Amino acid sequence: MFYRPEDGHGLPHNPFNAIVTPRPIGWISTRGADGSENLAPYSFFNAVAYVPPQVMFASTSAKPDRDGTKDSVANIRETSVFCVNVVEYAMRDVMNLTSGPWPREVDEFNKADVAREACETIACSRVADAPANLECRLTQIVQLPGDANVVVFGEVTGVHLRDDCLRDGLFDVTTFQPLTRLGYRDYSRITEVFRIERPGE
Ligand SMILES: Cc1cc2nc3c(=O)[nH]c(=O)nc-3n(C[C@H](O)[C@H](O)[C@H](O)COP(=O)(O)O)c2cc1C
Repeated sequence: MFYRPEDGHGLPHNPFNAIVTPRPIGWISTRGADGSENLAPYSFFNAVAYVPPQVMFASTSAKPDRDGTKDSVANIRETSVFCVNVVEYAMRDVMNLTSGPWPREVDEFNKADVAREACETIACSRVADAPANLECRLTQIVQLPGDANVVVFGEVTGVHLRDDCLRDGLFDVTTFQPLTRLGYRDYSRITEVFRIERPGE
């Protein structure tokens, strides 16, 4: 089949987010100017540069109690920092609980009973038990076409790696099984890894 997005797909559910898969999940922790804390998952997320290391996530749509955006972006606009927490399979249910459309004053660390620790380089909390955390300073927020579509870019200023995830000097994903987002309500986890050598190296 072929469809133009503006004409609709004619399927029971939008296939778009089942096409670009699997997506990593950036579990984003932020702090507002008033000190309130927030935690929410974003699968329009990725790393985008090595030197300096940079990441992005995209926020789509808005909450009624925020001015045209969601809590995460609103907090980042106020404080210019955020932390990306890596989600392992074992954290799937608590991660999902933090995705609810909770009022802005709800602290999802408390709501989902997620242990927090202070970041080293930014004034924000991180998920204490995550396989890895990337402390980030905002570089730019880019407005995209459509209502409330923005991309947040950040430079990584601190990296935490959980000790048990390091094996023979490698950050070994088989030690924790990263959770990935598929389409619809589907997820996957990485359980098998194979190598492909690149030509000319
Ligand atoms: C696995 C997962 C991935 C998600 N990815 C995104 C995303 O990329 N962009 C987005 O705007 N919302 C995404 N959501 C929905 C947000 O997590 C949800 O709207 C949440 O309430 C936003 O929280 P906040 O207002 O505290 O930032 C995702 C939800 C789940 C469960």
